[in-house]
Amino acid sequence: MVRKDQVSRAATPGHVHGGGMVTAREGGSDMSSAQLYDTIGATYTVTRRTEPRIAARIWAALGDARTVLNVGAGAGSYEPPGRDVTAVEPSAVMRAQRPAGAAPCVAAAAESLPFEDQSFDAAMAFSTVHHWQDPIAGLREMRRVARRVVVFTFDASDTGWRRRFWLTRDYLPEVADLLVGRPSLTEQARAIGARMEPVLIPWDCADGFFEAYWRRPEAYLDDHVRRGVSVWARVGPETEQRTVRSLRDDLASGRWAERNRDLVALDAAELGLRLLVT
Ligand SMILES: C[S@@+](CC[C@H](N)C(=O)[O-])C[C@H]1O[C@@H](n2cnc3c(N)ncnc32)[C@H](O)[C@@H]1O
Repeated sequence: MVRKDQVSRAATPGHVHGGGMVTAREGGSDMSSAQLYDTIGATYTVTRRTEPRIAARIWAALGDARTVLNVGAGAGSYEPPGRDVTAVEPSAVMRAQRPAGAAPCVAAAAESLPFEDQSFDAAMAFSTVHHWQDPIAGLREMRRVARRVVVFTFDASDTGWRRRFWLTRDYLPEVADLLVGRPSLTEQARAIGARMEPVLIPWDCADGFFEAYWRRPEAYLDDHVRRGVSVWARVGPETEQRTVRSLRDDLASGRWAERNRDLVALDAAELGLRLLVT
């Protein structure tokens, strides 16, 4: 168990890239969820950064919380300024990309947060729940250690993200296989008593997450863009290359433009991204 004051004390200059680092259960079973990002995360910050319009939504949802726990924090893109933030991140490769001066970071996993009950005013998680081995356990842990929970995630149901987004609908149906056995968004919300709020993606979204380039399809042909998104590693190189070839052909022939004519006029798209807020 790491007390919050121990985390703050660990945040001394010279520790891992600006954030103090306290190791909790290093080498234990909870650390296995770090493996994917220890493998694919080295270039994360090339394309992944704060999208200010989405950050504003999260920071508003945090309300007047003074102490904030950021779970699955990565390099800390959405950590709110002006509050007392503590980060949790299991991957050493991701922790090493936290900028100088970032909030102190504990090496732990969501499913077993090393904090006492109600240690924080709020706990937040951005684009990470789909990586957790047990999302419901992780969400309940957030609820246990904080009075308010704010989670940015997606609705993977048939009416949500997969069918709405041309990339998964027309080129990468294999994404469905990645979601088998995962709890639905409704189950996740119910586990913590959260309400759901849609988050539209601006056409020029600054954070290069999977859906970010919905109106800039050429971006998916760029290796750097794909390396910042775990989906590509998880579907494997053959599927990735097939998708890139098909998309390139359709962009060249005008087929993509023909199919997605309605998108060009939109400034923001509803692709199933959601905030869960308690
Ligand atoms: C897509 S990145 C998001 C990072 C950061 N929240 C951001 O918005 O840039 C997903 C992060 O979840 C972390 N992660 C994976 N399994 C986890 C777990 N069980 N508990 C907490 N974080 C986990 C990964 O190591 C990775 O840093």
